[in-house]
Amino acid sequence: MNHLNKPLGNELINLLVDEDRQKILKKLSLNLASITLSERHLCDLELLMTGAFSPLEGFMTHPDYEAVLDRLRLHDGTIWPMPICLDVTTVEAGKLEAGQSVALRDGEGFMLAVMHIEEIWDIDKEREAQTIYGTTDTLHPGVDYLFNNVGSHYVGGKIEGFSLPLHFDFKHLRLTPLEVRDICTKHSWRRIVGFQTRNPIHRAQFEVSIRAMREAKANLLLQPVVGSTKPGDIDYYTRVQCYQEAYNHYPPNTVVLSLLPLAMRMAGPREALWHALIRKNFGCTHFIIGRDHAGPGMDSHGKPFYEPYAAQELVDQYKNDIDIQIIPFEEMVYVVEMNQYVPRSKVEEGATVKTISGTELRNALRSDSSIPDWFTFSGVVEKLRNAYPPRHKQGFTIFFTGLSGSGKSTVAKVLLSIFLEIGERPVSLLDGDIVRRHLSSELGFSKEHRDINVRRIGYVSSEITKNRGIAICAPIAPYTISRRQVREMVEQYGGFIEVHVATPLEICEQRDRKGIYAKARAGLIKGFTGIDDPYEIPENPEVCIDTTDLTPDEAALEIVLELQQQGYLK
Ligand code: PPS
Repeated sequence: MNHLNKPLGNELINLLVDEDRQKILKKLSLNLASITLSERHLCDLELLMTGAFSPLEGFMTHPDYEAVLDRLRLHDGTIWPMPICLDVTTVEAGKLEAGQSVALRDGEGFMLAVMHIEEIWDIDKEREAQTIYGTTDTLHPGVDYLFNNVGSHYVGGKIEGFSLPLHFDFKHLRLTPLEVRDICTKHSWRRIVGFQTRNPIHRAQFEVSIRAMREAKANLLLQPVVGSTKPGDIDYYTRVQCYQEAYNHYPPNTVVLSLLPLAMRMAGPREALWHALIRKNFGCTHFIIGRDHAGPGMDSHGKPFYEPYAAQELVDQYKNDIDIQIIPFEEMVYVVEMNQYVPRSKVEEGATVKTISGTELRNALRSDSSIPDWFTFSGVVEKLRNAYPPRHKQGFTIFFTGLSGSGKSTVAKVLLSIFLEIGERPVSLLDGDIVRRHLSSELGFSKEHRDINVRRIGYVSSEITKNRGIAICAPIAPYTISRRQVREMVEQYGGFIEVHVATPLEICEQRDRKGIYAKARAGLIKGFTGIDDPYEIPENPEVCIDTTDLTPDEAALEIVLELQQQGYLK
């Protein structure tokens, strides 16, 4: 630890208590009120407990919060730009008071810490948004979170850590500041450059980190964020797989890969300063700040929330306070003639510059197009392709809806055979009868029960779709809202093809293969769809078929052609 950069406040905080104190806290907790922690609280608590947020010893009290807002400092003058606060609802706040201790629990009820409350105060959200984010525009994810997720009050006080939040994934990569320091000390590393990232590492980012290592004559702490990042970012499982691929391209034994359970606020300049201080706590002597560090994108007027180099400028203002050297980087671009990456401002006139944006990359993955070697590593492409398959490898759901006897089940069975013949994806048929027998046997035909039934079908088909299979569902599904809910559930994972089997009631009734319409007309069955219960016509189904004059094969062909046009079948 002696050789590495000192933590902020000179002492690495460890809030986890020893076994004896754990036993006492456990007993004490029997009589304590509890606060259930959100995902963000869990991230903050973990970093508080391990000392990544040194010198903080708990969730902020009011004087620290005010000083952070006004001066980017704690009350005692230590530099610190970000509020680390525990918010509660008005109802919770009404049950708590200063001087009280409270158990902090995860969503399953496990106690992670005990907090000794020093202060409770109500939040001026407008002020916090303006001061921390420089805006009250809710297109900013940090502002949106503040206005729509944060409760009405903050509760501040010291923490006694009982247990770190439980993680079951990538355990060997989840390193505390002390563990990172131990590894670096073991290697006799004294100069370490920290690299923060929430995106996969491609050649441009790789080049930045390698240049920074060269410039600082330092080893690298490659530290991706696996807490919450910007909505829409690539999931962290895929990213970590990509980092593991990129890791192999660094010179052997020069880099530590460690995952940081940080809940990002996307606060641009303030966030960059915060990230640098966190890395100081991990022992880093240097920290990379690139273009638009922790930037949240565009505001509601289409302008970027922060200027691309605002983060570098703010951190530069505090360079004498932070005791970690910043390595600023411009955007790196690929120059074809040189076959290398260079900072954009260093590109010579007439040179051919190439870049690929995140959207272009996603489009290339979706359309199965090739991704050039100059852009990224083949191993990274492989992991991304695996996570973002083109449509012909994604799952999808065919959701039939229509009156009883309209022909849903028959066409569904024809489709089942077609997909089984093709044989490329697993297929499940969730016909109305099957579902009612195996999933919904206790349900009747009230609106409430039909909605539950349809949502259950939605859940199962979304799981099948997620796992890249084909779900064919054939309920009556008479209500627009529950059909929409199913669509939303499925579309997060793959395709949703709504097929309205619009065979008119007279034809369905004429067919009456089950004799059920006759019973409904005779009043033996009440609330029968189309007779004395509503059927809301789908507004925009992908396919609409009337089986009056169509054979089942012809009807199935229309669906197959739609799937082919949408790219789900090759
Ligand atoms: S729903 O509305 O989507 O939950 O209905 P579903 O699960 O598809 O069930 C429809 C089948 O149940 C038989 N049945 C009824 N249908 C409509 N209304 C009432 N009251 C009713 N009672 C029983 C009917 O035969 C449907 O079978 P299919 O396969 O559609 O002909």
